[in-house]
Amino acid sequence: MKALVLVGGFGTRLRPLSCTRPKMLFPLANQALLDWTLKNLAEGGVDTVVLAVNYMAESLVRYFGPTKFDLGIIYSREGRPLGTGGPIKKAADLLIDDEPFLVLNGDIISDIDYQRLVEHHRSKGAVATIALMRVQDPSRYGAVEQDGDGRVLRFVEKPERGEAPSNLINAGIYVFEKEVLDYIPDGRKVSTEEEVFPILAKEGKLYGLEVHGLWLDIGVPEAYLEANQEILQRLDGPGRGEDIEVHKTTQILDPSYLGEGVKVGSHSVIGPNTSISEHVHIGEGCKIENSIIFPGATIGDYSSVRNAIIGENSILERWVKVESGSLIGDYAIIMDGVTITEGVTICPSKTVSESILQPGQVM
Ligand code: GDD
Ligand code: MG
Repeated sequence: MKALVLVGGFGTRLRPLSCTRPKMLFPLANQALLDWTLKNLAEGGVDTVVLAVNYMAESLVRYFGPTKFDLGIIYSREGRPLGTGGPIKKAADLLIDDEPFLVLNGDIISDIDYQRLVEHHRSKGAVATIALMRVQDPSRYGAVEQDGDGRVLRFVEKPERGEAPSNLINAGIYVFEKEVLDYIPDGRKVSTEEEVFPILAKEGKLYGLEVHGLWLDIGVPEAYLEANQEILQRLDGPGRGEDIEVHKTTQILDPSYLGEGVKVGSHSVIGPNTSISEHVHIGEGCKIENSIIFPGATIGDYSSVRNAIIGENSILERWVKVESGSLIGDYAIIMDGVTITEGVTICPSKTVSESILQPGQVM
């Protein structure tokens, strides 16, 4: 079976971390987000994956190459972003086969059973089947109304609060028959959610299957941190890369992951639920918990980071404090003694010399 994974475009909230890599290459323990998806696809009976790329296409090509986890990987390059539907039409020749194909949003981590979804699709004789998740607040997603047989009667993308037809949302994982391609206009940006699903629903050709288990769209810091926690808990193996140097007075609380070449000074406490990427240097007396630190970052003595994300090659000097839900962009510098309160986003390459005590974005 073939699968198309949408890995173009870029999310807004996590954009300060996207200077050096697209979302799909964000670290989750010892691998990139998309590695977890590819592995799951390989286990789910997929042999060929088409990556629909545009933003930072070359870094994706370099990272994954022509094969990974025994999957053949083909790249479909868009000259300009074609949305969530255009890339499917563009890659039509690569996808059409005598069996249905999968389409996935690339910014999702899930442990869905693809084979079960395909079986359900076949048993209903559907033209398209979408995996559905039950969530508290459907307003960030596409929400559906179904009949008793699982047929989707209505699909509403990003419903206003209180106006969603149900709490069942589009998980961004689909099984399509080639007939779906007839519903996608050629040569322009198309939104599958706004232009294709509502028509398929109206014609009674769209089905949904509720799935359970791990599912997160990592587009916002809270979800990304939660995905990190889930993956760390599932890690088999020691969660330590090569050539790490951790001072003997420092405590590592698992589950945590320390990548290659990580150095940690004395009397620090790292973890739990923390991913420290390659070549991060952490000083003495630091405290880092429930956080993700991107490659090459430096965290100075007596600094603390809690429920936060620290971008690639950024520098926290000494006595810096980064609080819950905050995000430090790539290459930013946070100077001595600065506190970054909850819910603050620091833009890439910014130097911050005074504490930020209100949530919001610092340009
Ligand atoms: N190739 C390509 N080209 N990919 C794109 C483009 C593009 O122009 N635009 C977006 N994508 C990819 C993104 O990289 C992401 O993996 C996926 O398409 C979905 O885009 P998002 O921007 O993350 O959409 P969303 O999260 O707001 O909403 C979508 O996902 C929800 C589930 O997380 C919708 O499909 C919702 O209906 C759904 O509930
Ligand atoms: Mg998304």
